Amino acid sequence: MTDPVLRAENLRKSFGGLVAVDDVSFAVEESTIVGLIGPNGAGKSTTFNLLSGFHELDDGEVIFEGERVGGLSPHERAQRGMVRTFQITRELTGMRVMANMLLAAQDHPGEKVLSALVNTDSVDSREERARERAEDLLKFLELWELRDEYAGNLSGGQRKLLELGRALMADPDVLLLDEPVAGVNPDLTDRLLARIDDLQSERGMTFVIVEHDMDVIMSISDKVVGMHNGEVLSVGTPEEVKRDDRMLEAYLGGAV
Ligand SMILES: Nc1ncnc2c1ncn2[C@@H]1O[C@H](COP(=O)(O)OP(=O)(O)O)[C@@H](O)[C@H]1O
Ligand SMILES: [Mg+2]
Repeated sequence: MTDPVLRAENLRKSFGGLVAVDDVSFAVEESTIVGLIGPNGAGKSTTFNLLSGFHELDDGEVIFEGERVGGLSPHERAQRGMVRTFQITRELTGMRVMANMLLAAQDHPGEKVLSALVNTDSVDSREERARERAEDLLKFLELWELRDEYAGNLSGGQRKLLELGRALMADPDVLLLDEPVAGVNPDLTDRLLARIDDLQSERGMTFVIVEHDMDVIMSISDKVVGMHNGEVLSVGTPEEVKRDDRMLEAYLGGAV
């Protein structure tokens, strides 16, 4: 394993009197898939929002590629290569799949290092490149046949694939996913996880995947961080964390 590309250092976040995330630290090594698991209310989504910048830290720091990013906006973090997925909004459901992808490119015009070069290009050639990228990604995700379909007509699983595709338009180094297969049928769940696995093994991408159901990400995670009551209870291989008595208790005791 190489150096961590992302580090959570003593993250802390309260809502009123409730401590949702309490001194959470873990490292995410480059080109690995880290699963953040725990029963409902464990603090996974809050941790996710602290990593991506959607919540302000009460304390602690987020280190991305060796630099403190805890004070940066979600957009600034995305420009550096740390991107999260978004649900397809109501507005986007009324647009076709291809348009959804192209709009995501507009939201992320800076493909990091490339942006300096790209900015000297004409608008036409930038749009052409975005189209090519969208086509490649839609084929990769097996959504190409649906490119002219309205996003609102997609199944729940197909929408999740489109959400992944939109995030990939930004060419991220690290992709943060919150419950990417929740409500998705088994076939599409397998396809989604297989594509994530491909992106890691073939393109060296890094993933942090928040998941409530331990079994879902057991097979693809290199490392699992188990949370309960806002704290990290257990860190290790999927097997180690699954067998950890403290995690078993957390799941039994938690309001699953
Ligand atoms: N915006 C918020 N305002 C108040 N309480 C919140 C907010 N977000 C989360 N919480 C509380 O923080 C705790 C952790 O929630 P969350 O991070 O969503 O857990 P998980 O994703 O593991 O289910 C829960 O008790 C939840 O009710
Ligand atoms: Mg959650």
